[in-house]
Amino acid sequence: MANEPAPNDQPGTEQPQDIYSDTVIEHVRNPRNVGDDPYPDGFAIITGPCGDTMGMWLRVKGDVIDRITFWTDGCGPSIACGSMATEMTTGKRVAQALRITQDDIIHRLGGLPEESQHCALLAANTVKEAVRDYISLKNEPWKKAYRDRK
Ligand code: FES
Repeated sequence: MANEPAPNDQPGTEQPQDIYSDTVIEHVRNPRNVGDDPYPDGFAIITGPCGDTMGMWLRVKGDVIDRITFWTDGCGPSIACGSMATEMTTGKRVAQALRITQDDIIHRLGGLPEESQHCALLAANTVKEAVRDYISLKNEPWKKAYRDRK
């Protein structure tokens, strides 16, 4: 009997807590900073290779990201990654936000299974693109007037 697998060792019987860290599960259940923003200082909407999409909208005060929100139609891990990415970005200087990586997000979430690691890349890339959009609009403000009319 000692070699008989426990009930949760049967294929297809894994529970979320067997696969994901407590931090991931908590962010999926209570995602932070969800929603869009009609008047962002910068935003990005990206579709990853898996076909899931993530959007982020940020506001900047001085040189600091004052507020960032996200939305995704992706999987549970993508919700956790978007949520964690917004927490990691809030209060950061613009240049610091550009340096947030996939690995940083995975680390802060307490790890992700291999098959979910691209969800963190989608979140990191969306942060970067939203920040780049802010920088682009700051350097060429006429683009904002044009974009807001669309
Ligand atoms: S599977 Fe597409 S973002 Fe997670």
